[in-house]
Amino acid sequence: MTAPQSLPNLDWEPTSWRRYPAAQQPTWPDEAALAAALTELRAMPPLVFAGEARTLRSTLAKVAEGNGFLLHAGDCAESFAEFSADNIRDKLKVILQMSLVLTYSTGVPTLKVGRIAGQFAKPRSAPTEQRDGLELPSYFGDIVNDFAFESAARRAEPQRMVRGYNQAAATLNLLRAFTKGGFADLREAHQWNLQFIASRREGRRYDELAQEIERALRFMAACGIDLESEAQLHEVDFYTSHEALLLGYEEALTRRDSLTDEWYDCSAHLLWAGERTRQLGGAHVEFLSGIENPVGVKLGPAASPEEVVALCDRLDPKRRPGRLVLVSRMGADRIADALPPLLRAVKLTGHPVVWMCDPMHGNTYQHASGYKTREFDDVMRELHGFFAACDDAGVWPGGVHIELTGENVTECTGGARGLTDIDLERAYKSRVDPRLNYEQALECAMRIARHVRGVK
Ligand code: PEP
Ligand code: CO
Repeated sequence: MTAPQSLPNLDWEPTSWRRYPAAQQPTWPDEAALAAALTELRAMPPLVFAGEARTLRSTLAKVAEGNGFLLHAGDCAESFAEFSADNIRDKLKVILQMSLVLTYSTGVPTLKVGRIAGQFAKPRSAPTEQRDGLELPSYFGDIVNDFAFESAARRAEPQRMVRGYNQAAATLNLLRAFTKGGFADLREAHQWNLQFIASRREGRRYDELAQEIERALRFMAACGIDLESEAQLHEVDFYTSHEALLLGYEEALTRRDSLTDEWYDCSAHLLWAGERTRQLGGAHVEFLSGIENPVGVKLGPAASPEEVVALCDRLDPKRRPGRLVLVSRMGADRIADALPPLLRAVKLTGHPVVWMCDPMHGNTYQHASGYKTREFDDVMRELHGFFAACDDAGVWPGGVHIELTGENVTECTGGARGLTDIDLERAYKSRVDPRLNYEQALECAMRIARHVRGVK
């Protein structure tokens, strides 16, 4: 039995969020400069197209039915300084490798969405930061201000949004070239392994898998199957996403689709509201309610079943499969208690959501040395709790949301190489949340694959 649909929000327009309280917006000291930057952005071409967002929605609909698994991964925040072709390529490589491991070991197609090409803005626990008696605005990500703790650097500078847009455009251009231009060809799968891992356990296991795939491809070709004409073997569909935090930026990139007359936020394929911006009566939820892109909502342990059901009604009143992704980020110690009531409540309503697990953001802590870190074991424990809770509730565990990098950083402890707190200072690069490094990410995928195989 399906419950009656809620009423769509008929008063929505790209600017209607301005009538609601907006959490986490930086204070822009120069209003004229802000208006000028937004005018500039309104004139820029869309970064993604409405048709692509629709294809993502229909693929997510398959995930919601249990016929796909969503791998949502990338940096906590992209930065202006770390912007390079090599970094983008290496991040894509890890995601492709993880998805290959997942698809090959589970037989379930993996939908790939990056936290990339626009994931710049960061919500903060406080609007200002104090050090040695000096109080300055918090760092809101490179798209707003600079990380250095100096008053000029921390001033919110609207032109940074234009730079962020341009960097997103260049990143997306490279991603499109890599995913459609031969690099993502399955026959190249062994080459995705990054040099520094090839001799390590995770690297060797990946290599074996890539060789098996290549053998299978050669076998099919020998049987007379024309592999050349199968685009799926040579290209990859890869989508972009970010937290829709800066509403002025998102509004400026929201366009009416000429084919359907509907509104799409053309800054990315998928946009989400974070744990700090998902207020039912707030501006972010208002904004997301009116765009046609697939949208996500992060849910921490304080989210009540009533609140989550109300968010589903507000964001997906028409109950369209593939429209809404709910992202559980409870923390390893809380998930067993906090998630089941939400899974049950949403299931009872019949909302066709995708449930996924972010095992990162509920497990961050500050080590005594001052570094923000996460333990690999906590990440795995939370994932385990997620699969167990979904299994109990009879809900398909639709995917995972991971912060990672293709680099050999030391930001999260644990994993195959047994990184400890002493290693943190060696290669800690993140200015915001700690990411799984390349080897930890691959190990994580191998362990997730075992869970998914257990369910299927
Ligand atoms: C994030 O995804 O980087 C983030 C801030 O997450 P959350 O909203 O879940 O805290
Ligand atoms: Co983060």
